[in-house]
Amino acid sequence: MDGTGVALRVSGAVKRYGAVTAVDGLDLDIRPGTCLGLLGPNGAGKSTTMRLLTGQSRADAGTIEVMGYRIPDQSKQARALMGVVPQQDNLDIELTARQNLEVFAHLYRVPAQSRRAAVDWALDLAHLTDRADTKTEKLSGGMRRRLLIARGLVHRPKFVLLDEPTVGLDPQVRQELWSLVDGLRSEGVTVLMSTHYIEEAERLADDVAVMSHGRVIARGRPSELLDEHAGRTAVEYYGTPQRLQEVQDIATAAGLPSRRNGPAVSVLRADRISAEVADKLGDGVHRPASLEDVFVLLTGEVIE
Ligand SMILES: Nc1ncnc2c1ncn2[C@@H]1O[C@H](COP(=O)(O)OP(=O)(O)OP(=O)(O)O)[C@@H](O)[C@H]1O
Ligand SMILES: [Mg+2]
Repeated sequence: MDGTGVALRVSGAVKRYGAVTAVDGLDLDIRPGTCLGLLGPNGAGKSTTMRLLTGQSRADAGTIEVMGYRIPDQSKQARALMGVVPQQDNLDIELTARQNLEVFAHLYRVPAQSRRAAVDWALDLAHLTDRADTKTEKLSGGMRRRLLIARGLVHRPKFVLLDEPTVGLDPQVRQELWSLVDGLRSEGVTVLMSTHYIEEAERLADDVAVMSHGRVIARGRPSELLDEHAGRTAVEYYGTPQRLQEVQDIATAAGLPSRRNGPAVSVLRADRISAEVADKLGDGVHRPASLEDVFVLLTGEVIE
């Protein structure tokens, strides 16, 4: 695949579960060697999307192409190039850490003569070399997650799907994962990563897609999304619930976006607040706008 191609092309994908339409006309492209951050509230369809890409679930409509292969017809070829880290831990708890990796190295056809080295590399990646022979059920939650991540990378895939990979990781390991993803990208690996940690998307993703109700409602580089939806600065106002309501009303009347922000109200696009409106709003605290503001404005959801 050359640099002008796409690693992923999804067009009009639909996935229904009975009355629930989990994916509802999804369009999504990823350029090779880039990281796309998938943001969206619970139930937006992020994990379902990932299952469609691997062929684990079959779309009811639309077309999906991964690394030039059509899904589901050519899932097998695509799967050989993909590494998948699912949201739900599906490690075999009866097996040791090493055995879990060996099973996958075998499954993904890592040649027999390089399998041992691949497994050792993955154990090292997961910082589990000294726990290699521990049964997985005896590992801590964070260790299991590290193993799950390493398992998805043991065959050195070209396209990696990470579904909320850093949940439950301590801050240091989370940062290591960030460097790892950075490293993958610099090797030309394409990454699709869902996350609820906005900071993670801000730092890692070349591009962010915000998903809501089964489709992408905004897409772009973090800075572009800020410019388009929230501006670069926000002003936070504190006070009684009545005061907060009043601030929101003034902002709305002035055509400015605003959002609740814990005990405060943030008025976005602060650069557009006129002197007259600023007077009405009273004293507030200036801060940089963030991708979280964009997310809340677009989805109406609050990030805890
Ligand atoms: N196997 C299934 N059977 C029935 N409904 C399902 C199934 N999988 C997902 N759904 C439904 O599809 C919708 C999207 O779920 P999905 O797991 O894709 O969301 P998500 O964006 O990954 O959410 P989260 O952030 O909570 O992981 C939800 O309403 C969910 O209940
Ligand atoms: Mg999910």
